[in-house]
This record gives sequence, structure tokens and C-alpha cells, in this order.
Amino acid sequence: MSDTDMEKPALLSVSDMHKQFIAPCGKLHVLSGVEFELNEGEFLAIVGESGSGKSTMLQILGTLEQPDHGAILLDGESIHGIGSNRQAQLRNQKIGFVYQAHHLIPELTALENITLPLLVQGMARNDSDARGRELLTRLKLDAREQHVPAKLSGGEAQRVAVARALAARPRLLLADEPTGNLDEQTAQEVFGLLRQLCREENAAVVMVTHSMTMARACDRILSLHEGKLFPVND
Ligand SMILES: Nc1ncnc2c1ncn2[C@@H]1O[C@H](COP(=O)(O)OP(=O)(O)O)[C@@H](O)[C@H]1O
Ligand SMILES: [Mg+2]
Repeated sequence: MSDTDMEKPALLSVSDMHKQFIAPCGKLHVLSGVEFELNEGEFLAIVGESGSGKSTMLQILGTLEQPDHGAILLDGESIHGIGSNRQAQLRNQKIGFVYQAHHLIPELTALENITLPLLVQGMARNDSDARGRELLTRLKLDAREQHVPAKLSGGEAQRVAVARALAARPRLLLADEPTGNLDEQTAQEVFGLLRQLCREENAAVVMVTHSMTMARACDRILSLHEGKLFPVND
């Protein structure tokens, strides 16, 4: 069989992922055999009750938490058991994060917040500024370039957080209730821009959301229940 006959491998491949926490009331088996694959550029929604382990799952996918068991491959490379330096490199180069709260650095302007990860990578200032301004424009934030986070609205701050997460052109974006702190209309607007930008940048996304409206606008929905993922045909 030639290379062209072979199916393209998944960007992210997760098999038999387990995680338990030791709680005062005993062992808490939060993840008990999570399995899924994510294709390049695919936008996946994860839904599930509060406390079902969605954030824990994303933290493991982002190498910020260790699984107890399981294989997680990003671009064919295992992302656990590889040393913390390589994990930090993967987070900087291949994985972007957006959380419910923007976590922007309060002393830095919108543009500086976006370009910081690029400067950390060693990109020249002119190039990082150009990339930052391009993202600000695409997120309709040109006029907010010099604003510090305290001078941005909630929706604007979250758009800056999206720009920062995508600045280094990650292959994978992990978004944990990225619009959870916003009113419905602003949430839809931020989600729409996030969806469009990820498509244009060919970034694959795992997004946790409580909004079925948003989940339905994604390529696929999986529900986390009793430690496992199930398809949702809604
Ligand atoms: N570091 C931890 N130590 C102990 N228990 C934890 C820890 N992190 C999360 N948990 C527990 O694991 C469960 C899943 O948490 P989480 O992943 O945050 O759920 P979700 O994001 O779906 O609301 C919860 O019951 C939570 O209390
Ligand atoms: Mg959570």
C-alpha cells in the first residue's frame, strides 16, 4: 500500500485514559477509560455534568496533569512520560489554552499579552508584533491594542485570550468553558470568532461547554459521563 492510500493519522489519539483522586471520602475515579481521536482541524465539543471530570481531562490533554494510565499521542508523539522540558516545549509550540477566566497579565497591554508566548519562543519583536496585530484585526480588536485587561470588556478580554492562545499557531486548542463568564449574546459572538479563527488557522479544538447551542455548531459532540465519553447525536 502506498502512502497516499493510507488514511491520515489522527492529530490526537487518546486510549484508555484513567485518573483518580484521593479524596477524604475515599478514591474518586474521575476518568475510567476515556477514548477518542481528534482529526486535524476538527472542532470537538465536550459536554457533561459539573464534576464529571471535563477540566481534569483537558488538563491531562494539555500535559498539566498526569494520567494514572492511558496513551495520549499528539502528532504521533506520546505527551506523557517524556520529561517536563519536552512537555513545556509541546505546550509552547503545539497546544493553546483558553479558560473560563481570561488569565491575561494585568500589567501588559492587549498586544503585549498576545505576543509574549512568541517572544518566549525567540521570535523577533517586529514579527511577533505583526502577528499580534493581525490577530487583533481578525478578532475586531484593532482599537484595543494598547488597552490593559482592566480597560477591556469581558468579551474583549476573552477575545485577547483567544488571540494569545492561537498566536504561536498551535495544532491543538484546549478551551475550558471559554465563554462561561459572558452574557449569552457576547458568548455567541466570541464563540463565532473562535470557531472562524480556528478554521482559518487549521487548529483542532477540544472545547468544554454547557451550551448545547454552541455544541451543535461544532463538528462533533461527546458527553463525559461516569468517566467515559459517549457520542451525542443531538
Ligand atoms: N486535585 C484534585 N484533588 C481531588 N479531587 C479533585 C481534584 N481535581 C478535581 N477533583 C474532583 O474531580 C471531579 C472532577 O472535577 P473536574 O474535572 O473539575 O470536573 P468538571 O470540569 O467536569 O466540572 C470533581 O468531583 C472534583 O471535585
Ligand atoms: Mg470544569
